[in-house]
Amino acid sequence: MKKRKILVTGGAGFIGREFVRQAVKEGKKLVVVDSLTYAGDMARLKEFEGKIEFFKADIGHAPKLIEIFKKTRPDAVIHFAAETHVDRSILGSGPFIKTNVEGTQVLLDVSKNFEVSRFIHISTDEVYGDVLKGRSIEDSPIVASSPYSASKAAADLLVRSYVRTFGFPAIVVRPSNNYGPWQYPEKFIPVVIHKALNNEHVPIYAQGLNEREWLFVGDCANAVLTVLKKGKPGEAYNVSSGDSKKNIDVAKRILDILGKPHSLLTFVKDRPGHDLRYALHSSKIKNQLGWEAETSFSKGLEETVLWYQKNALWCARKALALKHHWSKVYIKKS
Ligand SMILES: NC(=O)c1ccc[n+]([C@@H]2O[C@H](COP(=O)([O-])OP(=O)(O)OC[C@H]3O[C@@H](n4cnc5c(N)ncnc54)[C@H](O)[C@@H]3O)[C@@H](O)[C@H]2O)c1
Repeated sequence: MKKRKILVTGGAGFIGREFVRQAVKEGKKLVVVDSLTYAGDMARLKEFEGKIEFFKADIGHAPKLIEIFKKTRPDAVIHFAAETHVDRSILGSGPFIKTNVEGTQVLLDVSKNFEVSRFIHISTDEVYGDVLKGRSIEDSPIVASSPYSASKAAADLLVRSYVRTFGFPAIVVRPSNNYGPWQYPEKFIPVVIHKALNNEHVPIYAQGLNEREWLFVGDCANAVLTVLKKGKPGEAYNVSSGDSKKNIDVAKRILDILGKPHSLLTFVKDRPGHDLRYALHSSKIKNQLGWEAETSFSKGLEETVLWYQKNALWCARKALALKHHWSKVYIKKS
C-alpha cells in the first residue's frame, strides 16, 4: 500500500521546520508548501533535502495549490503558514488578512475538494486575548486584541465553521508562545539573545511585566504530531507548558546565562494594545491524548542560547535584513 502524504504549509518557518524534522524522523512522507516570505528560509530545511517534496507557493493562490494537490494527493494537511509578528500587524494589517484569513480560506476549500482525511489548523493562545486571571479553556470566548490575533481568530473560527457546516475533519491547535532554535530574531527571546551577544541595549516593552507561558518548539511540534495521530475531528486543543514567566525575568535569565550585565536592559514605550497575560489550561490534550510538555524552561532556554551562539552568523544576517526593513518603514512614515 502507498504511504499517505502529509502536506505541511509554512514548513520553512520556525515551528513548521521542527514539525518537519520530527515527522521525517518518524518516516512520514511530507509535502512542504511555503511562499518563503521574509520569515521563511530554506536553510531551515537543508538537512531534509531529498527526504521531503518542497513547493514554493502562496497558500492564497488557488490554481497553484490545486496543481500541488493533484500532483501529490495529500491525505492530511498541517497548516502553519501565517504572517506571525504582532508589531508588523500593527503597522499594516493587510498581509495578515491576506495570508491568515484569505489564505486559510483558499487552503480549506482546496483541502475540502480533495477530501483530505485530516486538517490540523495551528491557531494561537492569543485568540483568547488578555487573561488577567485564571486560564483559558478551549471553550473560552475568542476576543483577540491585535490585528495579528484578530486574523488568527478569524481563521480559527473559519476552520470551525467548516467542521460544523460541511463536516470537514479539521482540528484546531492553540499553542502558547514558542521559543527554541531557528526562531526569527524579531521575536522576543531571539532578540534578547542576539542583542546581548552583541553587547547592545536589549529593548523591553514598558516595565517588562507581560507574562507568557513559554513552550519549547520541540514540545509544540510533538503536540501537533500527537493531535494528528490521536486528535478528534471537530475539537480544539490548547497546548502549553505551565512555565509562565514575565518578560523581564526571561530577559534577566538570558543575560545571566550569557554572563552579561542587567544594565543592558532598556525600557521602551509599550506596544499599543499589548496583552498583559496569556495563560492556558492544557489538561484536555493531557487527559485525552496523553501529551505533556517535556522540556523545562531552564533546559530549553540553555539549549536555545547555545544554538544562537553557534549560529551567530545566520542570526546576524537576519538582524541586518531587519534593520534595513525597519529603516525603510520609518523613512516612509516620516
Ligand atoms: N511562534 C509562536 O510563538 C507561535 C505561538 C502560537 C501559534 N503560532 C502559530 O504557529 C504557526 C507557525 O508560527 P512560526 O512562529 O513558525 O511562524 P514563522 O513566521 O516563523 O513562519 C511562517 C512561515 O509561513 C510562511 N508563509 C507566510 N505566508 C505564506 C503564504 N501566504 N503562503 C505560504 N507560506 C507562507 C513563511 O514563509 C514562513 O516560512 C503560525 O500559524 C502562528 O500563528 C506561533
